[in-house]
Amino acid sequence: MEAFYNKLIENNKEWVNRNLAKDPEFFTRLADGQEPPLLWIGCSDSRVPANEIIGAAPGEVFVHRNIANMVIHTDISMLSVLDYAVNVLKVKHVIVCGHYGCGGVKAAMGNSHIGLIDNWIRHIKDVYRFHYEELDKIENEKERFNRFVELNVSEQVLDLAKTSIIQNAWKKEQQIHIHGWVYDIHDGLINDLNVTLKDNKSLNEVYQLSI
Ligand code: CO
Repeated sequence: MEAFYNKLIENNKEWVNRNLAKDPEFFTRLADGQEPPLLWIGCSDSRVPANEIIGAAPGEVFVHRNIANMVIHTDISMLSVLDYAVNVLKVKHVIVCGHYGCGGVKAAMGNSHIGLIDNWIRHIKDVYRFHYEELDKIENEKERFNRFVELNVSEQVLDLAKTSIIQNAWKKEQQIHIHGWVYDIHDGLINDLNVTLKDNKSLNEVYQLSI
């Protein structure tokens, strides 16, 4: 246990040296500021490290992660990240990236009481309720689980579009594309769900704000 912990600072020093060997200005440049073109909203799961799986360097991805990559429009942390990404950093893309085998989504399919987290999981259960007709038809549990992961990502893409922040940006004709991806922890590959939103068109009228 101690060995794992002690190794971390050592790893960090090696990482610094590796980067400096490749590019002596690496940290000087990063310290100047950031202009990432991408906001990533992903799951906290330790197996889905945002930068690593898309080969992005430091400075390229602004990241928000929580359990089951949820976009909860009363979550002040998510909203602050989104606001900063859209209005200050002017990101061009927002990617919601879920993953097959997600523990949060799995919990939402079941009835076990875990603790405080039950209240967070409830948001995922709402997604099940919106799509129960499709999901309940899938007899194979693993297939139903996979589809639930995908539908959850699609719903979060829609929920992002509904935020006042994205509504405002689109109204000002700021170009922002919102994408939905699912990462497969079994082979490392990303499945683009092709649910990209670029404007209000596919959003139910009740969610379209006249700003
Ligand atoms: Co997860």
